[in-house]
Amino acid sequence: MTATQWTADTLLTRYDEVRAHTERLAAPLSPEDQTVQSMPDVSPTKWHRAHVTWFFETFVLADNEAGFAPFQDQYWFLFNSYYEAVGPRYNRAERGVISRPGAHDVGVYRGNVDDRMRELVAGLDQGTVDKLAGTIELGFHHEQQHQELLLMDIKHVLSLNPLRPTYAGSPAPASTPDPMGWVEVDGGLVEIGHRGAEFSFDNELPPHQVYLEPFRIADRLVTNGEWLEFMADGGYRRPELWLSDGWAQVKGQGWEAPFYWTQVDGVWFEHTLHGTFPVDPGLPASHISHYEADAYATWAGKRLPTEAEWEHAVRTDVGDGPPTGNLADTETWHPRAAEPGTGRLRQAYGDCWEWTSSAYLPYPGFHPAAGAIGEYNGKFMSGQMVLRGGCALTPPGHARASYRNFFPPGARWALSGLRLADGGEPR
Ligand SMILES: [Fe+2]
Repeated sequence: MTATQWTADTLLTRYDEVRAHTERLAAPLSPEDQTVQSMPDVSPTKWHRAHVTWFFETFVLADNEAGFAPFQDQYWFLFNSYYEAVGPRYNRAERGVISRPGAHDVGVYRGNVDDRMRELVAGLDQGTVDKLAGTIELGFHHEQQHQELLLMDIKHVLSLNPLRPTYAGSPAPASTPDPMGWVEVDGGLVEIGHRGAEFSFDNELPPHQVYLEPFRIADRLVTNGEWLEFMADGGYRRPELWLSDGWAQVKGQGWEAPFYWTQVDGVWFEHTLHGTFPVDPGLPASHISHYEADAYATWAGKRLPTEAEWEHAVRTDVGDGPPTGNLADTETWHPRAAEPGTGRLRQAYGDCWEWTSSAYLPYPGFHPAAGAIGEYNGKFMSGQMVLRGGCALTPPGHARASYRNFFPPGARWALSGLRLADGGEPR
């Protein structure tokens, strides 16, 4: 997965950075906060902290540490997420009823694995570093994915508390909505997928050609103000706007606004990681399902971009340089309003993951890795839709043109929004 030239020293430095950052993110949360599982899709904070540790213990230490023995036999059962090849695992939906190990004991587990990882890596010759670096680097990226999930999950946990607790941060000043513009994109035969020597996940490979008709793509995300117009026009009451499965969810779940919106005395409020505030019309609409994004696009007379259109538009308009935007390193913990328009794509990276109209499928020539690690991505390529671009909770190393996130089309607790597309009809 990578051609990055690691040494034992650079692996250790990166290991310590990634591991310490997880603990920094968990630091504002009490042991009680870290224990709650508010719905089956959400995992307790302490479970995330333990599971990413289990990943290093299982996929690095077990095969390479002299005289290896698990820190605790039952942790292999408790903290295995979905790896069938590793063995049986605890029921995901019941992670929140586990009071022991507590948050402190998870910290002890983390410390033990950290000590053993440091000892192992410090003693590797360069040939063994070359052999193990791919798996260790995957462990870094895996832990960063869980850093994002930890934040999305605790946002839901805190949202159910009538005391309205906050995680961190403070809201941005009220924004001024900026008009949406359009970027024209040439079609033709274009290359999609990861290229170059830097790390990527296997689902971004191999690069391959896709034919695109010329199309237009919105230069910013759809805003809360625009979403309020959709709602005022009966967006959640008009079945003709909805995919059939989406309309079933509207009726069955009683959807009438984005996931974290509540109405008080006729005013819509939004739950965020820094508190609950009146909906700011200039901020991107967020925490919407694929079904809602698609219904909005239909209402607007537009459509969602395909993942290939999104990637090609970003490569041609934003370029292949280091991604910048409102990602987790800004510590805003929430989408921001688009900067004033310049005729170029805005908010390509950060703010909200952007739903596409593309099903999450293997690229032509995709082959999962052999063994348990091959279960990382490939086995989820059914019944999910692709999102692109990253969000305000995404570590910066997880924003790139080829990055493919994926969720079921009804998922709303992820920090997801939408960008419109138009055109693309064959000429
Ligand atoms: Fe995981």
